[in-house]
Amino acid sequence: MLFGIAIYQSYTKDSSIYSTFKKGSGETTEIRSEEVIIQRPEEQENIRQLISREDPTQFGIILGPSGTGKTYLTRQVCRDSPSFGVVYYEIPGAPASFPEDLAREVGMKLSSSLNFVDVLVSKFVSPESVSYHKLPNDYTQSMEIVINTISKTGKRFKKNFGRTPCLIIDGVDLLVKFDAKAFVRLVDLAKIHANAGDLCLILVSSEGHVMPLIFGDTSSRTRMALVIEILDFTDEDALKYLTSKSVPTKVAKDVVECAGGRVIFLMKAAEVAKKFSQLSEDKLIQMIKNELEDLYVEPGLLSVQMNGVLAKDIVRVLLKSDKLKMRNISEILKDVEEAKVKNVVSSLVKANLLRYDSNGYLRWHSKLCRFSEIWRVGRCFQLFEL
Ligand SMILES: Nc1ncnc2c1ncn2[C@@H]1O[C@H](COP(=O)(O)OP(=O)(O)O)[C@@H](O)[C@H]1O
Ligand SMILES: [Mg+2]
Repeated sequence: MLFGIAIYQSYTKDSSIYSTFKKGSGETTEIRSEEVIIQRPEEQENIRQLISREDPTQFGIILGPSGTGKTYLTRQVCRDSPSFGVVYYEIPGAPASFPEDLAREVGMKLSSSLNFVDVLVSKFVSPESVSYHKLPNDYTQSMEIVINTISKTGKRFKKNFGRTPCLIIDGVDLLVKFDAKAFVRLVDLAKIHANAGDLCLILVSSEGHVMPLIFGDTSSRTRMALVIEILDFTDEDALKYLTSKSVPTKVAKDVVECAGGRVIFLMKAAEVAKKFSQLSEDKLIQMIKNELEDLYVEPGLLSVQMNGVLAKDIVRVLLKSDKLKMRNISEILKDVEEAKVKNVVSSLVKANLLRYDSNGYLRWHSKLCRFSEIWRVGRCFQLFEL
Protein backbone atom coordinates (compact mmCIF):
# COMPACT_ATOMS: atom_id res chain seq x y z
CA MET A 1 0.00 0.00 0.00
CA LEU A 2 2.77 2.34 1.01
CA PHE A 3 4.60 1.58 -2.22
CA GLY A 4 1.39 2.19 -4.09
CA ILE A 5 1.31 5.70 -2.70
CA ALA A 6 4.97 6.32 -3.44
CA ILE A 7 4.50 5.26 -7.03
CA TYR A 8 1.29 7.16 -7.34
CA GLN A 9 3.19 10.37 -6.67
CA SER A 10 5.49 9.85 -9.61
CA TYR A 11 2.73 10.78 -12.02
CA THR A 12 4.35 13.99 -13.15
CA LYS A 13 7.09 12.03 -14.85
CA ASP A 14 4.77 10.63 -17.46
CA SER A 15 7.03 11.26 -20.38
CA SER A 16 5.51 8.36 -22.30
CA ILE A 17 2.11 10.07 -22.25
CA TYR A 18 3.84 13.28 -23.28
CA SER A 19 5.43 11.64 -26.28
CA THR A 20 2.17 9.92 -27.25
CA PHE A 21 0.60 13.35 -27.62
CA LYS A 22 3.66 14.83 -29.26
CA LYS A 23 3.57 12.16 -31.91
CA GLY A 24 -0.21 12.20 -32.20
CA SER A 25 -2.10 9.10 -33.23
CA GLY A 26 -2.75 10.06 -36.85
CA GLU A 27 -0.44 7.54 -38.46
CA THR A 28 -1.73 4.68 -36.34
CA THR A 29 -5.39 5.56 -36.76
CA GLU A 30 -6.79 3.01 -39.16
CA ILE A 31 -9.91 3.58 -41.16
CA ARG A 32 -11.95 0.89 -42.84
CA SER A 33 -11.08 0.43 -46.46
CA GLU A 34 -14.40 0.94 -48.24
CA GLU A 35 -14.94 0.17 -51.91
CA VAL A 36 -16.88 3.40 -52.34
CA ILE A 37 -15.96 6.42 -50.29
CA ILE A 38 -18.07 9.52 -50.25
CA GLN A 39 -15.91 12.55 -49.54
CA ARG A 40 -17.50 14.98 -47.10
CA PRO A 41 -15.23 18.03 -47.17
CA GLU A 42 -17.50 20.26 -45.10
CA GLU A 43 -17.88 17.76 -42.26
CA GLN A 44 -14.16 16.99 -42.41
CA GLU A 45 -13.30 20.66 -42.13
CA ASN A 46 -15.64 21.11 -39.16
CA ILE A 47 -14.03 18.21 -37.33
CA ARG A 48 -10.56 19.40 -38.28
CA GLN A 49 -11.26 22.82 -36.83
CA LEU A 50 -12.75 21.31 -33.69
CA ILE A 51 -9.70 19.22 -32.91
CA SER A 52 -7.01 21.65 -34.00
CA ARG A 53 -8.00 24.62 -31.84
CA GLU A 54 -4.85 25.83 -30.14
CA ASP A 55 -6.37 27.13 -26.98
CA PRO A 56 -9.79 25.54 -26.52
CA THR A 57 -11.90 26.80 -23.66
CA GLN A 58 -14.72 24.41 -24.52
CA PHE A 59 -14.70 20.66 -24.85
CA GLY A 60 -16.16 19.15 -28.02
CA ILE A 61 -18.92 16.77 -28.94
CA ILE A 62 -19.30 15.02 -32.29
CA LEU A 63 -22.91 13.93 -32.26
CA GLY A 64 -25.28 12.13 -34.59
CA PRO A 65 -27.49 9.07 -34.83
CA SER A 66 -25.72 5.76 -35.21
CA GLY A 67 -24.48 4.89 -38.66
CA THR A 68 -24.02 8.38 -40.07
CA GLY A 69 -20.26 7.99 -40.46
CA LYS A 70 -18.96 9.81 -37.35
CA THR A 71 -16.26 7.26 -36.60
CA TYR A 72 -15.25 7.04 -40.23
CA LEU A 73 -14.97 10.82 -40.63
CA THR A 74 -13.16 11.36 -37.34
CA ARG A 75 -10.60 8.68 -38.12
CA GLN A 76 -10.20 10.06 -41.64
CA VAL A 77 -9.46 13.55 -40.28
CA CYS A 78 -7.01 12.18 -37.68
CA ARG A 79 -5.17 10.23 -40.31
CA ASP A 80 -5.05 12.99 -42.93
CA SER A 81 -4.43 16.14 -40.85
CA PRO A 82 -1.26 16.92 -38.99
CA SER A 83 -1.93 15.06 -35.77
CA PHE A 84 0.55 16.80 -33.50
CA GLY A 85 -1.07 16.99 -30.06
CA VAL A 86 -4.12 14.95 -31.08
CA VAL A 87 -4.81 11.41 -29.88
CA TYR A 88 -7.75 9.37 -31.13
CA TYR A 89 -9.12 6.63 -28.92
CA GLU A 90 -12.20 4.41 -29.30
CA ILE A 91 -13.89 2.86 -26.26
CA PRO A 92 -13.69 -0.94 -26.57
CA GLY A 93 -16.83 -3.03 -27.15
CA ALA A 94 -16.51 -4.18 -23.55
CA PRO A 95 -16.42 -0.80 -21.79
CA ALA A 96 -15.54 -2.41 -18.43
CA SER A 97 -11.90 -2.17 -19.43
CA PHE A 98 -12.13 1.44 -20.62
CA PRO A 99 -10.01 3.17 -17.93
CA GLU A 100 -7.19 0.62 -18.19
CA ASP A 101 -7.40 0.41 -21.94
CA LEU A 102 -7.23 4.19 -22.32
CA ALA A 103 -4.29 4.33 -19.90
CA ARG A 104 -2.33 1.83 -21.98
CA GLU A 105 -3.27 3.55 -25.22
CA VAL A 106 -1.75 6.86 -24.11
CA GLY A 107 1.36 5.19 -22.69
CA MET A 108 0.68 4.99 -18.96
CA LYS A 109 2.46 1.98 -17.56
CA LEU A 110 0.14 0.01 -15.36
CA SER A 111 1.22 -2.46 -12.79
CA SER A 112 -1.12 -4.81 -10.96
CA SER A 113 1.41 -5.74 -8.30
CA LEU A 114 3.96 -3.14 -7.37
CA ASN A 115 7.12 -4.37 -5.75
CA PHE A 116 10.27 -2.92 -4.38
CA VAL A 117 12.12 -3.22 -7.68
CA ASP A 118 9.41 -1.29 -9.51
CA VAL A 119 9.75 1.48 -6.97
CA LEU A 120 13.52 1.59 -7.32
CA VAL A 121 13.35 1.63 -11.07
CA SER A 122 10.77 4.36 -11.20
CA LYS A 123 12.44 6.49 -8.56
CA PHE A 124 16.14 6.16 -9.27
CA VAL A 125 17.17 4.13 -12.28
CA SER A 126 15.12 5.80 -14.92
CA PRO A 127 12.92 8.41 -13.32
CA GLU A 128 12.21 10.18 -16.60
CA SER A 129 10.90 7.30 -18.61
CA VAL A 130 9.29 4.90 -16.19
CA SER A 131 6.29 5.52 -14.04
CA TYR A 132 3.98 2.87 -12.76
CA HIS A 133 0.37 3.37 -11.87
CA LYS A 134 -2.00 1.36 -9.82
CA LEU A 135 -5.67 1.91 -10.59
CA PRO A 136 -8.30 1.50 -7.89
CA ASN A 137 -11.14 -1.00 -8.34
CA ASP A 138 -13.73 1.73 -8.55
CA TYR A 139 -14.57 2.32 -12.21
CA THR A 140 -15.32 6.05 -12.11
CA GLN A 141 -12.31 6.71 -9.88
CA SER A 142 -9.98 4.81 -12.23
CA MET A 143 -11.27 6.77 -15.18
CA GLU A 144 -10.77 9.99 -13.28
CA ILE A 145 -7.19 9.10 -12.35
CA VAL A 146 -6.34 8.26 -15.95
CA ILE A 147 -7.84 11.48 -17.36
CA ASN A 148 -6.24 13.60 -14.64
CA THR A 149 -2.87 11.95 -15.22
CA ILE A 150 -3.11 12.70 -18.92
CA SER A 151 -4.03 16.30 -18.17
CA LYS A 152 -0.93 16.74 -16.02
CA THR A 153 1.28 16.16 -19.02
CA GLY A 154 -1.05 18.54 -20.86
CA LYS A 155 0.20 21.46 -18.78
CA ARG A 156 3.78 20.73 -19.72
CA PHE A 157 2.78 20.21 -23.32
CA LYS A 158 1.06 23.56 -23.47
CA LYS A 159 3.99 25.33 -21.87
CA ASN A 160 6.41 23.86 -24.41
CA PHE A 161 4.34 23.94 -27.57
CA GLY A 162 1.71 26.59 -26.93
CA ARG A 163 -1.22 24.32 -27.59
CA THR A 164 -3.55 22.26 -25.47
CA PRO A 165 -3.39 18.55 -26.29
CA CYS A 166 -6.59 17.00 -27.55
CA LEU A 167 -7.94 13.57 -26.67
CA ILE A 168 -10.76 12.24 -28.85
CA ILE A 169 -12.86 9.56 -27.15
CA ASP A 170 -15.09 7.78 -29.64
CA GLY A 171 -18.08 5.64 -28.71
CA VAL A 172 -19.01 7.34 -25.43
CA ASP A 173 -22.57 6.07 -25.96
CA LEU A 174 -21.22 2.66 -24.92
CA LEU A 175 -20.16 4.20 -21.64
CA VAL A 176 -23.61 5.76 -21.15
CA LYS A 177 -25.17 2.33 -21.45
CA PHE A 178 -22.58 0.67 -19.26
CA ASP A 179 -22.36 3.19 -16.43
CA ALA A 180 -24.26 6.45 -16.87
CA LYS A 181 -22.71 7.93 -13.71
CA ALA A 182 -19.22 7.40 -15.09
CA PHE A 183 -20.30 9.17 -18.25
CA VAL A 184 -21.65 12.15 -16.32
CA ARG A 185 -18.32 12.31 -14.47
CA LEU A 186 -16.46 12.18 -17.78
CA VAL A 187 -18.44 15.22 -18.93
CA ASP A 188 -17.55 16.98 -15.65
CA LEU A 189 -13.89 16.20 -16.25
CA ALA A 190 -14.17 17.52 -19.79
CA LYS A 191 -15.51 20.80 -18.40
CA ILE A 192 -12.91 20.99 -15.63
CA HIS A 193 -9.99 20.45 -18.00
CA ALA A 194 -11.39 22.78 -20.64
CA ASN A 195 -11.50 25.40 -17.90
CA ALA A 196 -7.98 24.65 -16.76
CA GLY A 197 -6.77 24.59 -20.37
CA ASP A 198 -4.66 21.46 -19.85
CA LEU A 199 -6.62 18.92 -21.91
CA CYS A 200 -9.28 19.24 -24.57
CA LEU A 201 -11.63 16.27 -24.65
CA ILE A 202 -13.70 15.55 -27.75
CA LEU A 203 -16.49 13.05 -27.14
CA VAL A 204 -17.91 11.20 -30.15
CA SER A 205 -21.36 9.84 -29.51
CA SER A 206 -24.25 8.09 -31.19
CA GLU A 207 -26.73 7.56 -28.49
CA GLY A 208 -29.82 9.71 -28.14
CA HIS A 209 -29.68 10.00 -24.36
CA VAL A 210 -26.29 11.62 -24.34
CA MET A 211 -27.57 15.16 -24.87
CA PRO A 212 -29.96 15.26 -21.89
CA LEU A 213 -27.17 13.82 -19.73
CA ILE A 214 -24.82 16.57 -20.82
CA PHE A 215 -27.19 19.47 -20.83
CA GLY A 216 -30.00 18.33 -18.55
CA ASP A 217 -33.64 18.70 -19.50
CA THR A 218 -33.80 22.39 -18.81
CA SER A 219 -33.01 25.08 -21.30
CA SER A 220 -29.96 26.18 -19.28
CA ARG A 221 -27.52 24.79 -21.81
CA THR A 222 -23.93 24.86 -20.81
CA ARG A 223 -21.71 26.95 -22.98
CA MET A 224 -18.83 24.66 -22.16
CA ALA A 225 -19.28 22.41 -25.18
CA LEU A 226 -18.93 22.94 -28.90
CA VAL A 227 -21.20 20.49 -30.68
CA ILE A 228 -20.79 19.30 -34.24
CA GLU A 229 -23.56 17.20 -35.71
CA ILE A 230 -22.80 14.56 -38.31
CA LEU A 231 -26.03 13.67 -40.03
CA ASP A 232 -27.01 11.74 -43.15
CA PHE A 233 -25.36 11.99 -46.59
CA THR A 234 -27.10 14.49 -48.86
CA ASP A 235 -29.56 12.82 -51.25
CA GLU A 236 -27.12 13.53 -54.05
CA ASP A 237 -24.26 11.77 -52.26
CA ALA A 238 -26.55 8.91 -51.26
CA LEU A 239 -27.49 8.41 -54.93
CA LYS A 240 -23.87 8.59 -55.94
CA TYR A 241 -23.02 5.97 -53.32
CA LEU A 242 -25.76 3.55 -54.42
CA THR A 243 -25.22 3.88 -58.15
CA SER A 244 -21.48 3.39 -57.79
CA LYS A 245 -22.34 0.15 -55.99
CA SER A 246 -24.24 -0.89 -59.15
CA VAL A 247 -27.71 -0.33 -57.71
CA PRO A 248 -30.06 0.51 -60.62
CA THR A 249 -30.87 4.24 -60.74
CA LYS A 250 -34.62 3.80 -60.26
CA VAL A 251 -34.08 1.57 -57.25
CA ALA A 252 -31.49 3.96 -55.83
CA LYS A 253 -33.84 6.94 -56.16
CA ASP A 254 -36.65 5.08 -54.44
CA VAL A 255 -34.43 3.94 -51.58
CA VAL A 256 -33.11 7.45 -50.98
CA GLU A 257 -36.65 8.81 -51.16
CA CYS A 258 -37.74 6.54 -48.32
CA ALA A 259 -34.60 6.05 -46.26
CA GLY A 260 -32.59 9.23 -46.84
CA GLY A 261 -28.79 9.23 -46.69
CA ARG A 262 -28.06 7.17 -43.57
CA VAL A 263 -24.92 5.36 -44.64
CA ILE A 264 -25.67 2.08 -42.82
CA PHE A 265 -29.07 1.92 -44.57
CA LEU A 266 -27.41 2.53 -47.91
CA MET A 267 -24.85 -0.20 -47.26
CA LYS A 268 -27.64 -2.63 -46.44
CA ALA A 269 -29.60 -1.60 -49.56
CA ALA A 270 -26.55 -2.15 -51.77
CA GLU A 271 -25.99 -5.56 -50.20
CA VAL A 272 -29.58 -6.64 -50.84
CA ALA A 273 -29.49 -5.28 -54.41
CA LYS A 274 -26.36 -7.29 -55.12
CA LYS A 275 -27.77 -10.47 -53.65
CA PHE A 276 -31.11 -10.27 -55.47
CA SER A 277 -29.98 -8.70 -58.71
CA GLN A 278 -32.21 -11.08 -60.70
CA LEU A 279 -35.40 -9.54 -59.26
CA SER A 280 -37.43 -6.93 -61.14
CA GLU A 281 -36.73 -3.36 -60.01
CA ASP A 282 -40.12 -3.02 -58.31
CA LYS A 283 -39.68 -6.24 -56.39
CA LEU A 284 -36.17 -5.26 -55.43
CA ILE A 285 -37.36 -1.91 -54.09
CA GLN A 286 -39.98 -3.66 -51.98
CA MET A 287 -37.44 -6.15 -50.74
CA ILE A 288 -35.01 -3.44 -49.68
CA LYS A 289 -37.71 -1.43 -47.91
CA ASN A 290 -38.92 -4.51 -46.04
CA GLU A 291 -35.42 -5.41 -44.98
CA LEU A 292 -34.60 -1.90 -43.75
CA GLU A 293 -37.87 -1.62 -41.86
CA ASP A 294 -37.46 -5.01 -40.19
CA LEU A 295 -34.01 -4.02 -39.04
CA TYR A 296 -34.38 -0.38 -38.16
CA VAL A 297 -38.05 0.52 -37.73
CA GLU A 298 -39.54 -2.56 -36.13
CA PRO A 299 -37.94 -2.05 -32.69
CA GLY A 300 -39.31 1.50 -32.63
CA LEU A 301 -42.79 0.31 -33.57
CA LEU A 302 -42.70 -2.37 -30.92
CA SER A 303 -41.74 0.23 -28.40
CA VAL A 304 -44.71 2.40 -29.45
CA GLN A 305 -47.06 -0.54 -29.01
CA MET A 306 -45.60 -1.53 -25.68
CA ASN A 307 -45.95 1.98 -24.33
CA GLY A 308 -49.58 2.28 -25.39
CA VAL A 309 -51.68 5.38 -25.78
CA LEU A 310 -49.07 7.76 -24.45
CA ALA A 311 -46.43 6.68 -26.97
CA LYS A 312 -48.94 6.95 -29.80
CA ASP A 313 -49.86 10.45 -28.67
CA ILE A 314 -46.21 11.48 -28.66
CA VAL A 315 -45.73 10.02 -32.13
CA ARG A 316 -48.81 11.87 -33.32
CA VAL A 317 -47.52 15.15 -31.95
CA LEU A 318 -44.19 14.57 -33.64
CA LEU A 319 -45.78 13.67 -36.94
CA LYS A 320 -47.25 17.15 -37.02
CA SER A 321 -44.16 19.13 -36.12
CA ASP A 322 -41.03 17.00 -36.74
CA LYS A 323 -39.14 18.53 -33.82
CA LEU A 324 -40.21 19.10 -30.24
CA LYS A 325 -38.83 20.11 -26.88
CA MET A 326 -39.55 17.81 -24.00
CA ARG A 327 -41.56 20.55 -22.34
CA ASN A 328 -43.75 20.99 -25.46
CA ILE A 329 -44.75 17.37 -25.14
CA SER A 330 -45.54 17.80 -21.47
CA GLU A 331 -47.62 20.88 -22.29
CA ILE A 332 -49.56 19.11 -24.98
CA LEU A 333 -50.11 16.08 -22.78
CA LYS A 334 -50.71 18.12 -19.66
CA ASP A 335 -53.09 15.63 -18.04
CA VAL A 336 -50.32 13.05 -17.88
CA GLU A 337 -47.68 12.99 -15.16
CA GLU A 338 -44.44 14.49 -16.42
CA ALA A 339 -42.34 11.59 -15.16
CA LYS A 340 -44.47 9.18 -17.15
CA VAL A 341 -44.06 11.19 -20.32
CA LYS A 342 -40.31 11.27 -19.76
CA ASN A 343 -40.20 7.53 -19.30
CA VAL A 344 -42.05 6.87 -22.50
CA VAL A 345 -39.92 9.36 -24.46
CA SER A 346 -36.87 7.66 -23.04
CA SER A 347 -37.95 4.23 -24.27
CA LEU A 348 -38.73 5.63 -27.73
CA VAL A 349 -35.24 7.12 -27.83
CA LYS A 350 -33.77 3.82 -26.70
CA ALA A 351 -35.63 2.03 -29.48
CA ASN A 352 -34.04 4.41 -32.01
CA LEU A 353 -37.38 5.80 -33.07
CA LEU A 354 -36.54 9.27 -31.77
CA ARG A 355 -33.31 11.09 -31.00
CA TYR A 356 -32.21 14.33 -29.36
CA ASP A 357 -30.45 16.81 -31.61
CA SER A 358 -27.66 19.17 -30.53
CA ASN A 359 -30.19 21.81 -29.49
CA GLY A 360 -32.04 19.42 -27.23
CA TYR A 361 -34.98 18.95 -29.61
CA LEU A 362 -36.56 15.54 -30.00
CA ARG A 363 -36.64 14.45 -33.61
CA TRP A 364 -37.22 11.34 -35.66
CA HIS A 365 -34.23 9.06 -35.53
CA SER A 366 -34.17 8.83 -39.32
CA LYS A 367 -36.14 9.71 -42.39
CA LEU A 368 -36.90 6.01 -42.66
CA CYS A 369 -38.61 6.03 -39.25
CA ARG A 370 -40.75 9.00 -40.12
CA PHE A 371 -41.68 7.67 -43.49
CA SER A 372 -42.72 4.36 -42.03
CA GLU A 373 -44.52 5.85 -39.10
CA ILE A 374 -46.82 7.83 -41.34
CA TRP A 375 -48.44 4.76 -42.72
CA ARG A 376 -47.59 1.98 -40.32
CA VAL A 377 -48.45 3.74 -37.12
CA GLY A 378 -51.23 5.46 -39.03
CA ARG A 379 -52.66 2.04 -39.70
CA CYS A 380 -51.92 1.08 -36.16
CA PHE A 381 -54.02 4.05 -34.97
CA GLN A 382 -56.92 2.82 -37.06
CA LEU A 383 -56.58 -0.75 -35.92
CA PHE A 384 -56.64 0.20 -32.27
CA GLU A 385 -59.10 3.03 -32.80
CA LEU A 386 -56.92 5.46 -30.93
N1 LIG B 1 -17.92 8.70 -46.25
C1 LIG B 1 -18.14 7.38 -46.29
N2 LIG B 1 -18.06 6.70 -47.47
C2 LIG B 1 -18.26 5.38 -47.50
N3 LIG B 1 -18.55 4.63 -46.44
C3 LIG B 1 -18.67 5.23 -45.24
C4 LIG B 1 -18.47 6.64 -45.11
N4 LIG B 1 -18.66 6.97 -43.83
C5 LIG B 1 -18.95 5.83 -43.18
N5 LIG B 1 -18.95 4.78 -44.01
C6 LIG B 1 -19.21 3.40 -43.61
O1 LIG B 1 -20.47 3.37 -42.96
C7 LIG B 1 -20.45 2.53 -41.81
C8 LIG B 1 -20.90 3.29 -40.58
O2 LIG B 1 -19.99 4.33 -40.34
P1 LIG B 1 -19.47 4.72 -38.89
O3 LIG B 1 -18.43 5.76 -39.06
O4 LIG B 1 -19.11 3.50 -38.13
O5 LIG B 1 -20.80 5.37 -38.28
P2 LIG B 1 -21.05 5.98 -36.80
O6 LIG B 1 -19.73 6.07 -36.12
O7 LIG B 1 -21.68 7.31 -37.07
O8 LIG B 1 -22.02 5.04 -36.15
C9 LIG B 1 -19.03 2.02 -41.70
O9 LIG B 1 -18.96 0.71 -42.21
C10 LIG B 1 -18.23 2.98 -42.55
O10 LIG B 1 -17.10 2.36 -43.08
MG1 LIG C 1 -19.06 5.19 -34.33
